[in-house]
Amino acid sequence: MNLIVMKDYNEISRQAALLVAASIALKPNLVLGLPTGRTPVQMYKELVLIHRNGFVDFKNVVTFNLDEYVNLPRKNPNSYYSYMQKNFFRHVNVRKENIHIPDGMAKNIKEECTRYEELIRAKGPIDLMILGIGHNGHIGFNEPSDEFVPETHIESLTEKTRIANSKYFGSLSKVPAKAITMGLGTIMHSKKIILLASGRDKAETIKRAISGNITPRFPASVLRLHRDCTFIIDKEAAEMIKK
Ligand code: GLP
Repeated sequence: MNLIVMKDYNEISRQAALLVAASIALKPNLVLGLPTGRTPVQMYKELVLIHRNGFVDFKNVVTFNLDEYVNLPRKNPNSYYSYMQKNFFRHVNVRKENIHIPDGMAKNIKEECTRYEELIRAKGPIDLMILGIGHNGHIGFNEPSDEFVPETHIESLTEKTRIANSKYFGSLSKVPAKAITMGLGTIMHSKKIILLASGRDKAETIKRAISGNITPRFPASVLRLHRDCTFIIDKEAAEMIKK
């Protein structure tokens, strides 16, 4: 696992955006795995700027989002579908048919998980997977658990995650209880993984991900077994890493 520590949030965002753009320059039909949350917002802004300046073309890029809430209509502003439109897809030229986000409103959620997993297998492997990290070490919505769940599946969100995400929903009761997420195996099959983290509130999380036990009780720890995984984090998030 590689670690890059940069000055602040703006720097890690720019670095991640440049990495995505460079990967697309090298492989125009890149298969790109995408996260949501607060952390990647600035990376998306930078990518939109690079695109507007004519330095990156998403025409042949294929995207797969990590996760989506179950039972939240796509048009709800808190759905990850809405998040992606607002922060990224509306501003760039990824083709509609190349955008993949799990359908949290599917009649049969289990079947939707299978469909999504098979689609990733058919179009993948994912060349470049960008991740954020939850305070409890979750990646995508893979919550701490007794075992690593390999494939796309339904996840019951922990109280901690629901509380963290309730700031977007206004109240805890409005946060969906379940989500569809790529599994840890799906994520680990990506050729290259970049994890972004920013801020002091992520320092303990990053310390555990980097130096704690590799265990499904702290899902991000599994990334240390990946051949090409880089954490790009700012100084504040790096504060508790032993020098
Ligand atoms: C959500 C998402 C994750 C994300 C995490 C951290 O629960 N499902 O993909 O990494 O939150 O979010 P933030 O970047 O807002 O701290």
